Amino acid sequence: MSSKVLHQPSNLKFVDFTSMGDVEKINNTLDGWEPDTEEIRKDYSKQNSALLLFKIAKIAGQAVGYVILREDYDNENSTYIPFIAVKTSEQRKGIGTSLMRQAVDKTKALGKKILTLYCEEKNIIFYAQIASKFDIDILALATGDEYSNGQPLYFVRYDIDKK
Ligand SMILES: CC(C)(COP(=O)(O)OP(=O)(O)OC[C@H]1O[C@@H](n2cnc3c(N)ncnc32)[C@H](O)[C@@H]1OP(=O)(O)O)[C@@H](O)C(=O)NCCC(=O)NCCS
Repeated sequence: MSSKVLHQPSNLKFVDFTSMGDVEKINNTLDGWEPDTEEIRKDYSKQNSALLLFKIAKIAGQAVGYVILREDYDNENSTYIPFIAVKTSEQRKGIGTSLMRQAVDKTKALGKKILTLYCEEKNIIFYAQIASKFDIDILALATGDEYSNGQPLYFVRYDIDKK
């Protein structure tokens, strides 16, 4: 089965990460989930041999989202998304889905078969619809742990070479 057509703003572009300012502008709008901008700066803005992809989504030159993909330290057949976010005012327009497309396509291009991430319970619906749209299998498991905001932590695994 082929992937379904994705809906996204027509003027959406993806560029390679160059500036922490873009990431900060997005993170500053997020309420309830506060990605550690300092951790991103430290771990991903410099040369990091495990970094596979760091894309900024832009509309009319303004940063509206980002996704980071790195090697999965636990599994050489897998990639891992430590961070993905869309500016609050730009959510529900298909940008997050398009960012996931970038990460899944990169994983496939590398010949890896699995993509993993951790998320809050409320985002399971987002990650589940990715599996349906991209025609890939998903496994979502409650880890029994919590984020610092008290929300349950889920592990998500996509098997991207579904036959
Ligand atoms: C999770 C996130 C990246 C999704 O990005 P997005 O651009 O809003 O996602 P999309 O527009 O591609 O959503 C696609 C579909 O996912 C589902 N979805 C996304 N957000 C949802 C929400 N808040 N509630 C219910 N369904 C949701 C819907 O089915 C949606 O399709 P629809 O808008 O046609 O109904 C974004 O909400 C975000 O940045 N949140 C804050 C940061 C965060 O939690 N990052 C993830 C850390 S694990």
